[in-house]
Amino acid sequence: MDTSQFKGRHLFVAGGSSGINFGIAQAFARAGAKVTVMSRSADKVVSAAAQLQALGAQAIGIAADVRHPEAVQAAFAQAEENFGPIDVLVSGAAGNFLASALDMSPNAFKTVVDIDLLGSFNVARLAHAHLRKPGACVIQISAGQSFIPTPFQAHVCAAKAGVDMLTQVLALEWGAQGIRINSIVPGPIADTEGLKRLAPGEDNLKAMAERVPLKRLGKIEDIARMAMLLASDWGSYITGAIIPVDGGLALSGPRDFTAAAAASRREKA
Ligand code: COA
Ligand code: NAP
Repeated sequence: MDTSQFKGRHLFVAGGSSGINFGIAQAFARAGAKVTVMSRSADKVVSAAAQLQALGAQAIGIAADVRHPEAVQAAFAQAEENFGPIDVLVSGAAGNFLASALDMSPNAFKTVVDIDLLGSFNVARLAHAHLRKPGACVIQISAGQSFIPTPFQAHVCAAKAGVDMLTQVLALEWGAQGIRINSIVPGPIADTEGLKRLAPGEDNLKAMAERVPLKRLGKIEDIARMAMLLASDWGSYITGAIIPVDGGLALSGPRDFTAAAAASRREKA
């Protein structure tokens, strides 16, 4: 794909200071985009912006928690002031841990719903005033838990199902303004915090890779490429789609996290 079309475009990544979301930021930075990364930790966003600048990109980092609408609103205002209207918004702030519903306090459940679902709503809703219209592309980073009922993941299943429904409703509400919005559903992606939490230790990682029909873990680059495709001219007729990029894992049914949950309890103790 010709990535030169992203030169000078403004990419804003919520939850963009590490892992998959930062990988997307790096891919766009290499293509010449101007990049804003936002997440809670001031240290992490400063370091992420410095790494993007080292790739030759114009980049800024803004510390804000997606659970705090005023902070998110200020972040979008600052981003537009620096780099103009947002062409591509990636919304991927999330939290996860393995726990059965009975081992989860109401606040534990609420915390993940607040970050993943309410946070995604805050980000999309408050970004709207700053999106390029027509032409903006919004990408939500979802998870297979959105449609695969998964033990030890009641909080994430509920939250990400909401995220994907939000994607579809906003595609309907914003389509006429020339804004597209889609969800990417990553599979198990190597060398990420998310996978470390779901598959702690080598044995769990191997078992996870074995369950994937393509028999390998995903790479951050696999997700970054789909984000670029969606944001590019080639994705111009795609909106409201929930797109697994998971080596076929979604076809293999519910996952059994019993062993991983036991390992994660041992790690925590
Ligand atoms: N099992 C059960 N409950 C847990 C838990 C676990 N492993 N980890 C946290 N909780 C509970 C806490 O006990 C607390 O509930 P309580 O007040 O009833 O005791 C609640 O969750 C909130 O925890 P807290 O640490 O205050 O939340 P936070 O807002 O500081 O952090 C998390 C949010 C818990 C999601 C944290 O893991 C995080 O920041 N994650 C971001 C990174 C990440 O998860 N990456 C992977 C993305 S897929
Ligand atoms: P990660 O590195 O932990 O990424 C999460 C990012 O969100 C971090 O930059 C974190 O930075 C930020 N964040 C967390 N809470 C936030 C909050 N309240 N406000 C603002 N930012 C917040 O994990 P990852 O594994 O790469 O996951 C990235 C996305 O991919 C998530 O949406 C996840 O659900 C999805 N996903 C991952 C996998 C996988 O295999 N890893 C599989 C399926 C889906 P701060 O700590 O600075 O806030």
